[in-house]
Amino acid sequence: MFKISKKVQSLPAYLFLEIDKAKRKARAEGRDIIDLGVGDPDQPTPDFIIQALNKAVSDSANHRYALDQGMPALRNAISGWYKRRFNVNLNSDTEVLPLIGSKEGIAHFPLAYLNQGDVSLVPDPCYPPYKGGTILAGGRVELLPLLESNSFLPDLTKIPFFTRKKAKIIFVNYPNNPTNACASDDFYKSLIEFATRNKIIIISDLAYSEMAYDGYKPRSLLEFDGARAVVIEFHSLSKTYNMTGWRIGWACGNTQLVSALAKVKSNLDSGIFSAVQLAGIAALEGPQEHIKSMCALYQERRDILVNGLVSLGWKPIKPKATFYVWIKIPNRTDSINFASRLLNEADIVATPGIGFGRYGEGYIRMALTVPKERIGLTLERLKKIS
Ligand SMILES: Cc1ncc(COP(=O)(O)O)c(C=O)c1O
Repeated sequence: MFKISKKVQSLPAYLFLEIDKAKRKARAEGRDIIDLGVGDPDQPTPDFIIQALNKAVSDSANHRYALDQGMPALRNAISGWYKRRFNVNLNSDTEVLPLIGSKEGIAHFPLAYLNQGDVSLVPDPCYPPYKGGTILAGGRVELLPLLESNSFLPDLTKIPFFTRKKAKIIFVNYPNNPTNACASDDFYKSLIEFATRNKIIIISDLAYSEMAYDGYKPRSLLEFDGARAVVIEFHSLSKTYNMTGWRIGWACGNTQLVSALAKVKSNLDSGIFSAVQLAGIAALEGPQEHIKSMCALYQERRDILVNGLVSLGWKPIKPKATFYVWIKIPNRTDSINFASRLLNEADIVATPGIGFGRYGEGYIRMALTVPKERIGLTLERLKKIS
C-alpha cells in the first residue's frame, strides 16, 4: 500500500545481511563456522576505558541529553590526540565534531553539500556508506575504480572533465577497507591539488590509522599543505580501542565543513551518551600501550594467514595496515560463488569482493579477527578446496 521512496529503492542491496543470514543458518545446523567476514575486533575494550564508563554511568548528571556538539573536554581530548599523533593543531571549538560512530557522520555528511543530481566521486570497491550516504542525499555516485595495477589508488587523471565539474565530494579511505592499500605522500599531494583546482570537498576516512605493521605509520591528510581548505577527516574509536559497539568517533578539519555537518546532525540526533563521551576521553588521554600489542597480535595472525595462503598457491595481498587480507580468487570464479563454496565446503565465512562494489569482483576479503589457532584451522580446511 505504501511506496518506498525512490532514494531508498535505489540503495544498493546490502549483501552483508545475506551473508549474515547464511552464517546463522549454518551455525544453527551445528556447524563449526570460522567467521573471517566481519571487521569487528575480537579483543575486549581495554579495562581502564570500561572503568571510566562504569564510573560515569553511575552519575545521574550523565543521564540527561548530551550536548549536540560533544563535551568541550572530549573535543579537547580529540585535538590533543591529533596533536600528539599527527602534529596537527585543531581548534577544539570550530574544527572538531564528535560523532555517534564515524559511519554516522560519513553517511550524513553528503546531506550538507549535495543538491539533487550533484556528484560524489566514490572509490570502488569501498566501505558501503559512501554510496548510501550520497544516494540518500539525492546525489549521484560516480565510481573511481581502485585497481591493483594502480596500487588501489584512484586515477584522478582519468576523471572526465564534465564529471569533475559536477563533483562536489570525493571520498578517500587509506589505510583502505577492503583492499588494505595505503596512500603515498605523492598521492595525497596530488589529491589536494585536484580538489583545490576543481573545488571539490575531500572526505578522508581514517578509521584504520592506528592499525599498521612493520613500523609503518599512516598519515593524516591534514598534515599536508593546503588540506585545511578542502578536507574533512573522519576518525573512529571503534578499531583503535576495540569499541565498535560503543558508537563514538569524530570529524575534524575545515571549519565550514565541520559546522555544516553539525547543523545536519542537530536536526537528526541529540549527541553521544555522556558516559560514553567520558569513556572516550579516558581512551584518548589514557595509556596507549594496548595499541602496540593489538598491532602485534594482528601482525602475527596476518603472517600466519598470508604465508599459509601463499603456500597453498593463493594470491593474498599482505596488509601493511588494517586487519583485512584482500585475496585474488584462484580460478576466476566469481566472488559470490567462491564465498559460497568456502561456506558450504569448508565452513569458512569470507566476504565476496562484489559486496564492496563491482571493481571488487574477482577478490574476497578475510578479516584477521579470530585467534591464530582458528587461522591455522582455516588453512587446514582450505587445503581441501584449493
Ligand atoms: C572504512 C571504514 N570507515 C568507517 C567505519 C565505521 O566505523 P565506526 O562507525 O564504528 O566508527 C568502518 C567500519 O568498519 C570502516 O571500515
